[in-house]
Amino acid sequence: GGTVAKNELGNDVSVSQFLDSHNVGDRTLVQGLKGDPTYIVVQSKEAIADYGINAICTHLGCVVPWNVAENKFKCPCHGSQYDATGKVIRGPAPKSLALAHAKVEEDKVLLTP
Ligand code: FES
Repeated sequence: GGTVAKNELGNDVSVSQFLDSHNVGDRTLVQGLKGDPTYIVVQSKEAIADYGINAICTHLGCVVPWNVAENKFKCPCHGSQYDATGKVIRGPAPKSLALAHAKVEEDKVLLTP
């Protein structure tokens, strides 16, 4: 079971291509569970992190961009902030970004709740 992550074109994300084209520490949006925008994380040159971070702000649902310079997620709507793993560090967001389990199967990213 689970959902295969898709890119913005609706195609399955190829993990090998993804790792080739991103730097360690990058967080990049894919379509995840229920089609929600979800960040997958480049853990090392060879692997993605074993979790995905749901990009929907827990305040009122804006998509939260990753701010690489500040190493945090900053919501443009009302200023909530989340650390690099999605933990809320500034309100008004009431809780942290939701996480999904991420694993690689046949070069694809499989997300599960
Ligand atoms: Fe993100 Fe309000 S929707 S801070």
